[in-house]
Parts: sequence; structure tokens; C-alpha cells
Amino acid sequence: MKVAILGLGQVGRSLLQILSDYSSTDRFRDIRIALAADFQHMIFNEAGMDPRRLLYYKQKGDIWGTGYREIDRNGLFREDFDVLVDLMPATKDGVRARDLYLDAFRNHRDVVAACKSGLANFWDEVMKAAKTSSRKILYEATVAGGVPLFNFIKHCNRTADISYIRGQVNSAANFILLSIASGKSFEASIEEAKKFGILEADYHFDTLGIDSAWKTVIIANSVIDAKIKPSDVRYDGVEDLSGIHGNLDEYRLLSSVNMVSGKVEASSSLVKVNPDDPILSLKGRGLGFTIGLRDRSPMTLLESSDGPVETAGAVLNDLLELSDSFPSTR
Ligand SMILES: NC(=O)c1ccc[n+]([C@@H]2O[C@H](COP(=O)([O-])OP(=O)(O)OC[C@H]3O[C@@H](n4cnc5c(N)ncnc54)[C@H](OP(=O)(O)O)[C@@H]3O)[C@@H](O)[C@H]2O)c1
Repeated sequence: MKVAILGLGQVGRSLLQILSDYSSTDRFRDIRIALAADFQHMIFNEAGMDPRRLLYYKQKGDIWGTGYREIDRNGLFREDFDVLVDLMPATKDGVRARDLYLDAFRNHRDVVAACKSGLANFWDEVMKAAKTSSRKILYEATVAGGVPLFNFIKHCNRTADISYIRGQVNSAANFILLSIASGKSFEASIEEAKKFGILEADYHFDTLGIDSAWKTVIIANSVIDAKIKPSDVRYDGVEDLSGIHGNLDEYRLLSSVNMVSGKVEASSSLVKVNPDDPILSLKGRGLGFTIGLRDRSPMTLLESSDGPVETAGAVLNDLLELSDSFPSTR
């Protein structure tokens, strides 16, 4: 299966690192990088690219040095690849991502996305376009990084009747919150978070709560077909914490989707978490969620530390799932 990777930042480079680390094994042999792009260049190689070479030149500062053929961005879909992987930064309105996915479907390509804004703002349009074109879009990495929420439900809970989902699905905002709780300034907390590669390119998407609100929309629409938009979600950020009384470290920015009497309630709020709630055990870089199930006990899945590497793992998992429907490239 030939893939086009758009975006070689924290997640893109982690993905290249994993592919490099396993290049002598069979694990990812069906995934061939045919096209790669960052902000400066878009390059293509019919026979596939060596992930180590690509990573080496990206880290050096210029993927043009790989020697692979530079192509015109407007001619992206003239090149031969099967799956487009969106690892580019979010835009507030999500239009860039939506247009790219619709173009991909029209040109008979599948999509794997880690970027949230296109899906959160245009869920219905994107899903309908995929269906009409008989294409697939997988998006595990959009919510809770490498913690498998959608796959967990799809593959392990197909018979479950879900009543709510509640989780810490944005590590950056919670990292900042807990860092401020420990006495650091907002600015120092941002600098600390940058070291872990968990901030959006424009960190205000995280700290104003927009990123977490987008994730809430994707959860609601994907899991319970809620048909909501970002404007339907009440959300908090972590830039102004003056309204919080008591110990800040007992609070988390939690995404919450509830089915109440057949109606969906979705929010992304700063809440004081009960001491016996397992989510409180998550520190800043942790991610996880609880699923409420009718007639069963709730299930919780937590990962104590998550970031670009784990997110790249979720992207690769989606690619492996798609590769099952492509002829082997061995
Ligand atoms: N970081 C995480 O832990 C995490 C977790 C879950 C989801 N995500 C999502 O995954 C996506 C990537 O995150 P990231 O942390 O890797 O972001 P990042 O470090 O900011 O990297 C973004 C990459 O996109 C490239 N880019 C920007 N505009 C482009 C364009 N027009 N065409 C092609 N490439 C372009 C940038 O190029 P240059 O290198 O030339 O600047 C950079 O390589 C984001 O949408 C984010 O929300 C990230």
C-alpha cells in the first residue's frame, strides 16, 4: 500500500522513526512511503522512500536533500499512491483539511487523519463524501493520541450500549493546568510542554480549549452519531484559571459526551474529579477515558504518558488496518 505523508513534524518524524526502527522486520512491510511533504517541499518516489533517509534529511532541515523527485503540490493527486495521511497542523475553520479529504475521495484515495479540525467542523460532509465515493477515512489519532478509543469500541465493544464517554483526551491543556498547579507560570508551563511535542503549532488551540472541544465533537459524532458541531459544545480553557477555587491539581479538563433521555450533552470542561475516579491518577501527559455502558460496569482505559510517538503508533495502526484491503507490496 503506497502512502502519502503530509506533515513531518512531531508526529510525522515519530512515524518515520518507528518505520526506520522496524525496517529490518516484517511488521510494516506492506506500508510504502511514496510521497512526503512538509511546509517547504513535496517529494515523490515511485519505488518508495527509505524512512531513515527521509528522517535524516528532515532532521537536517531540508527533505529536498533526499534526492527524491520534487513535485508540484497542485499535482498531488496525479501521483501514484493509495492513502493520504494528514499530519499537518489544524486550522481554526477546518476548511483546508475538509477540502483535502474531499479531493482525496474524488481521486479514489483513502485517508488517515491525526488532524482534528476538518473532521470536527465538517463531520457530516466528510463522512458522506467518503461513503458516496466508497472510500475510507480512519482517525484514531485525532482523539487521545495513542490511546485507542474508536478501535476499542469498534473491535472490542461492538455489542455494548454506550451511555457516556468521559476522558482526558488532550494532554497539552492538562499538562499546563497541572504545571500551573505546581506553582509554575503559564509561560514557563508552555515552554515545558513544548519539550514533549504535545502542543499544537498554535498552542492557543490547546490552552483556549478548542482542541479538546474538537475532540469532543469527534467522539460524539463517531460513537453515538450525535451530528453535532463545535458550536454545540460548551468548553473551557486553561488560560484563565481565576474562577477555580481549591486545589488546582484536583481538576482536569475533561471531555464528556452523555446520552440523556435520548439527547446528547457534550462538553469539554474543567471539573473537580472525585478522588476515587481513576482519571485523577493521570498526570499532565497522561490520556485516557471511561466508557459508561448500560447494564454493565464502566470501563476505563488509561495511558500514563502519551505524545507524538504514541500518536504515530495510532496512525500506523490505522494504516495497517487499511493495508489489509490492498494487495501486498512485498
Ligand atoms: N503532537 C501530538 O502529540 C499530537 C497528538 C494527536 C494529534 N496530533 C495532530 O497531528 C497533527 C500533527 O501534529 P504535530 O505535533 O506533528 O505538528 P507539528 O509538529 O506542528 O508538524 C506539522 C507538520 O506539518 C507541516 N506542514 C505545515 N503546513 C504544511 C503544508 N501546507 N503542506 C505540507 N506540510 C505542512 C510542517 O512543515 P514544517 O516541518 O516544514 O514546518 C510540519 O512538518 C496536528 O494536526 C495535531 O493536532 C498531534
